[in-house]
Amino acid sequence: MKLIAGNSNRRLSEAIAHTLTTSLAVADIKTFKDGEVFVEIQENVRGEDVFVIQSTSHPANDHLMELLITIDALTRASASRITAVIPYFGYARQDRKAGPRTPISAKLVANLITTAGADRVLTLDLHAGQIQGFFDIPTDNLFAVKEFERRAREIFNHNLNDMTVVSPDVGGVVRARALSKRLDQRPLAIVDKRREGPGQSEVMNIIGDVDGRHCFIFDDIIDSGGTLCNAAQAIMDKGAKSVSACVTHGVLSDSAAARIIKADALTRLIITDSIEAPADVAACPKIEQVTIAPLFGEAIRRIANEESVSSLFD
Ligand code: R5P
Repeated sequence: MKLIAGNSNRRLSEAIAHTLTTSLAVADIKTFKDGEVFVEIQENVRGEDVFVIQSTSHPANDHLMELLITIDALTRASASRITAVIPYFGYARQDRKAGPRTPISAKLVANLITTAGADRVLTLDLHAGQIQGFFDIPTDNLFAVKEFERRAREIFNHNLNDMTVVSPDVGGVVRARALSKRLDQRPLAIVDKRREGPGQSEVMNIIGDVDGRHCFIFDDIIDSGGTLCNAAQAIMDKGAKSVSACVTHGVLSDSAAARIIKADALTRLIITDSIEAPADVAACPKIEQVTIAPLFGEAIRRIANEESVSSLFD
């Protein structure tokens, strides 16, 4: 087995390699002055089971091209099987025709990865589970729910009596229900969110009881922070005791970290390291990271050994 890291998240890639007691294969992945990506795998991969670790996070297009070109290089170097390990699958939110004459970019990106030569995909908390069907190759979608369950139990000191799990929008109900199930079937509340445009969200209603409860929001992506901060404020306005949140992918564009600091309604935000945290996110006192390196390490080990991946979540 060989692990190769793109440039999007070296820290996570090294941590994954560490859990597998191996090191990353040596590869030169660089960008020429005109913006073109160049890749050179500097060790033999002929006949190897290769895992390319790359989140297609900001800058999404550069990181996507690095992934595609690395897969192409491995195909031409006669790797026997190539798994694209994509902890954060960017473009996932463009998974349907949102309006007339708009693309389904998530499908296009899936096609590109397949065409480049990937044999399998391994990813985490896809924005919508059905995106797996966009790939015509085996796709394993991991879940960060166990990591968040563990952290929630620590935060609430194993006393979950006053806790409610909240989905910040209707699309996240299945995900929130999975967390509530793991947290001893805590009650569920749902925020009825409307989105007028990218980065603008408005809370219309809260379905379920949050009055006097410690609320724990679970979402897949935080980008501008609008969804989370608006939901936290609306929940506090309905009489909640506190609002914490766990979100798998900390996209946290522009000044989202500053927005989190200013959001008095939100006590804390827990994200995973699927996206490498920029300095302002890493320094934000309200944001903490849990690592998904052991989860990916174990999934990679199981894929390499042809063992079940789904049983990781039994
Ligand atoms: C939307 O359906 C997603 O699950 C997230 O809630 C959304 O992408 C978060 O974006 P923002 O932080 O910009 O509101």
